[in-house]
Amino acid sequence: MADQSPSSEAPKGFLRKFQDLPTDSIPKTLFVAVTLCLFASMIVSIAAVSLRPIQEENKLRDKRINILQVAGVYDPSQNVREAFQAFEPQVLDLTTGKFTDDFDAATFDDRAASKNPELSRSLTDDPAGIGRQSNFKTIYLLRTDDGAIDKVILPVHGYGLWSTLYGFIALEADGNDIFGLQFYQHAETPGLGAEVDNPRWKALWSGKKLRDENGDLQITVDKSAPAAGIEYHVDAIAGATLTSRGVDNLVKFWMGKEGYATFLSNLQAGEV
Ligand SMILES: Cc1cc2nc3c(=O)[nH]c(=O)nc-3n(C[C@H](O)[C@H](O)[C@H](O)COP(=O)(O)O)c2cc1C
Repeated sequence: MADQSPSSEAPKGFLRKFQDLPTDSIPKTLFVAVTLCLFASMIVSIAAVSLRPIQEENKLRDKRINILQVAGVYDPSQNVREAFQAFEPQVLDLTTGKFTDDFDAATFDDRAASKNPELSRSLTDDPAGIGRQSNFKTIYLLRTDDGAIDKVILPVHGYGLWSTLYGFIALEADGNDIFGLQFYQHAETPGLGAEVDNPRWKALWSGKKLRDENGDLQITVDKSAPAAGIEYHVDAIAGATLTSRGVDNLVKFWMGKEGYATFLSNLQAGEV
């Protein structure tokens, strides 16, 4: 006689059927894999979201250290935020070469501005390989104790071999003598293009001049010195011709008429 007990007759629910499957069955293996993936992605997402403010703060700190370094006033024992207060940020209108109060210099985002069609323009002649250029840039002034401009720190960027290099050039108050150049972000090859970060190469920039007596832009990164003279020449990095060419292009672009030339002539005329 057939077993009539309710437990053996009741149809098994989905959960029960699943529980009864062998541990190494395909549905159970898939279930464990999917659950693990979901759990891991949840942890990664939570970590990414919660760490973002710290990452942004670190990026800002790194950029500030770079500005302090390029201006030659970085002291590792000093608090970066406090040391950075020595700089006066200003938003520069590249077309007029004058500062503008239309934006808050402390928060103005140059990179976001270069993507905003109302604040930027698309470049047809684009030697630095940047596509769009913001009409406004945040620059930093370092003043002497009596309030005179000591150095101007100008952001520059342009394409190397693999990446866009972002950095700063520090100029003396005459707007022509270079104090330093350094990059805070790029993805060039370590040991080759990334030698732009080598202190010995960076030191080559100190004391070089942008323009000759006629006001012609002469600064050049190349394997050999230009006819204009050694004071306008920075040696290209050995084995990294393309990164060097990228740096040459970006410096010429930003120091030229599409970049800071109008501001620099205003600076030289004492109109800043
Ligand atoms: C894996 C790899 C990575 C490279 N990275 C760079 C680089 O970051 N910057 C660069 O200018 N050249 C880089 N090069 C070298 C260039 O392809 C090119 O050979 C070099 O710029 C020529 O320089 P030279 O004439 O001074 O030898 C790399 C080459 C290889 C194989």
